[in-house]
Amino acid sequence: MTLESYKGVIYNYAFPLQACYRVALRAKSLWRIGYCNLLGASLGGCIGIIGLGRMGSAFARRCLSLGLKVVAWNRTPEKIEKLQGVEPASTPREVAEKCGVVHIFVADDEASRSVLRGPEGVFAALRSELIVANHTTVTPAHSLEMYRAAEELGTIYLDAPVVGGPAQARLGQLLVLVSGSREAYEKALPLLKNLGDTVMYVGRVPTATVIKLAINSMFFISAQTLSEAMALASAWGVDLEVLREAASRTWLKTLFDKYYERMLSKDRPPSFTIRLAAKDLAYAEQAGYMRNTPLPLVSTALQTYLEASRRGYGSSDYSRIAWHILGKEPGASGEG
Ligand SMILES: NC(=O)c1ccc[n+]([C@@H]2O[C@H](COP(=O)([O-])OP(=O)(O)OC[C@H]3O[C@@H](n4cnc5c(N)ncnc54)[C@H](OP(=O)(O)O)[C@@H]3O)[C@@H](O)[C@H]2O)c1
Repeated sequence: MTLESYKGVIYNYAFPLQACYRVALRAKSLWRIGYCNLLGASLGGCIGIIGLGRMGSAFARRCLSLGLKVVAWNRTPEKIEKLQGVEPASTPREVAEKCGVVHIFVADDEASRSVLRGPEGVFAALRSELIVANHTTVTPAHSLEMYRAAEELGTIYLDAPVVGGPAQARLGQLLVLVSGSREAYEKALPLLKNLGDTVMYVGRVPTATVIKLAINSMFFISAQTLSEAMALASAWGVDLEVLREAASRTWLKTLFDKYYERMLSKDRPPSFTIRLAAKDLAYAEQAGYMRNTPLPLVSTALQTYLEASRRGYGSSDYSRIAWHILGKEPGASGEG
């Protein structure tokens, strides 16, 4: 075949195929927006979001970019004002009264309990057809408590923690783990797909939360392991680049690829804080205790992250655990 005939094949087949593929992708996305709007309309006409921290605000932006109507509540109302296009609600209850689906992204058990069971909480809306998807990382005990409280009201409650950070939330690329009734999961699936391209149904509550705590424990322990390797190498005057090069000839390459640059970068805006990492480790330890299961590495990592938090790294990205272990001061690059 001559070069000209190759070009002919490309012009005649490849380009039209590529164009068709683009049209199909666009149609798929328009169909999904239409479907979500329809489903949203049947559920109250909007997507409700409670908690506009890093994750909640990234998800709100994602919904707005999909053309969905968003009604939100945040403890600190100023954060809502920064999100143009989001309709503010004065209480979590109002969000539940206006929207048929409520996504929750607050810090911990205490915050989740107050937005769900507080006097002006979601459950006070008393809407039996409501879908509540809690994406907060909580304890299994909390998840069960909320599931049972919702069941008494006839409200659908999904234990739906997510893996991935604000960047993935903004693009709808989180891994969403879901436990609850399968029927509820199937009903909520098109809405959950706004959050993540992988939505996994894992069984009864609190299975999703247990898996989330197990995964996060591995992330935080791995970050501590790498930080200690770097501290050991530094203490003996070994160039960290040489350590990286050697370790990258083994399967540890994945660990270095994931964290090394992030750990050494001078300006790393937090996507997941050390304080929240300590919370997840404490929840994992507590979950182990509930099943008489010792988790010594989780306990050790918890102490390390707590110590880092006490030293002033609490609101830094969790990769800054390396700075703490390497003995750097939190103020070194505006951290704290
Ligand atoms: N960031 C991540 O990469 C990531 C990934 C997966 C899962 N998660 C989980 O997702 C949840 C949110 O994380 P995030 O990074 O978005 O946290 P964040 O930026 O610290 O935001 C926390 C949110 O919780 C609210 N909040 C805290 N205490 C409260 C209380 N007592 N009552 C009501 N609201 C309260 C905060 O309100 P104010 O604005 O008023 O402080 C804020 O909206 C956490 O459970 C976290 O573990 C995070």
